[in-house]
Amino acid sequence: MPTLLSFLESRAPTELNAVFGAIKDASIIVSAEVNRAGLGADIYGAKGTENVQGEQQHKLDVYADEVFAEAFRKSGQIVGLASEEVDDALFFEENAESDYVIMIDPLDGSSNIDVNVAIGTIFAIYKRRSPIGGPVSEDDFLQPGNEMVAAGYVSYSVSTQMVFSVGEGLHIFTLDPKHGDYHLVSENVRIPSDGKVYSINEVNYDDFDQNLQEFVQYCRDKRKGDGTRKYTGRYIGSLVADFHRNLLKGGIYVYPSTVEAPKGKLRLLYECNPMSFLVEQAGGYGTDGVTRTLDIVPTELHQRCPFFVGSPVMMDEVMKG
Ligand code: AHG
Ligand code: MN
Ligand code: MN
Repeated sequence: MPTLLSFLESRAPTELNAVFGAIKDASIIVSAEVNRAGLGADIYGAKGTENVQGEQQHKLDVYADEVFAEAFRKSGQIVGLASEEVDDALFFEENAESDYVIMIDPLDGSSNIDVNVAIGTIFAIYKRRSPIGGPVSEDDFLQPGNEMVAAGYVSYSVSTQMVFSVGEGLHIFTLDPKHGDYHLVSENVRIPSDGKVYSINEVNYDDFDQNLQEFVQYCRDKRKGDGTRKYTGRYIGSLVADFHRNLLKGGIYVYPSTVEAPKGKLRLLYECNPMSFLVEQAGGYGTDGVTRTLDIVPTELHQRCPFFVGSPVMMDEVMKG
């Protein structure tokens, strides 16, 4: 089966392939540490610091952020980085002549690190808007998702997999840790048009608007012809893992606005947008409950938004209002 970079050779420009090379290298380092949790680098537990969004940082959040940032700097092809874990975007001066900016959630599912449950890294890649040769500007990062050139995530789980798209279908690669490379396992993946799974943190049910409450009730009640349930609930608490299961099996993931998170909890630039790009490449779609996620024009780096994403039939059901 082709390796990641040989597969990309005919599908993306050399410069973008170098970006994927950096993601590959960094994710292999993070994956090795995740697999040795408790034995290698000290990645368990809280760091005792908060990120710009006032969330407790875990040691692995910060570790992963540093590993990816270093790989991007060394790639020679990434001029700027925005990360969940860093207040302001970084400018890599030594890469001023290059064209790409990247936005990452270096470690998604932090609350699952210490309990050995699947976690991930999410990335979104754009071309800069500022002139080549100069510093990056905020404009480079506040682009709507429909300008994205590539996106993906790495899931650190039963195996480590990279799921990505450069805008011509969605592909899944598995890491062979013995040989330090990713190999193709599924090409042009399509999400089932209908699904069985709804993924939502139901403890917030009382905060949901009437439409969403009705949708959840519909999922709870709906029966098939033979009287068995049509839907089941699954919620891991790692967007990457919940999204990945729904991508393969069919389903919907929702993180709406709640009393605790009035604008939603997930971040537009490095969570909702890349996942929406990916699901569209697989035949599904993502919204904030009203608007296609990829058409939202961002105003802030760490902007949050409600997120509905998944199989088209289930999405249509919740969107019909
Ligand atoms: P992160 O670890 O990057 O902060 O993201 C966590 C997100 C997402 O992955 C997950 O689906 C959601 O938070 C879970 O939130 P609740 O615990 O509120 O359900
Ligand atoms: Mn996250
Ligand atoms: Mn994170």
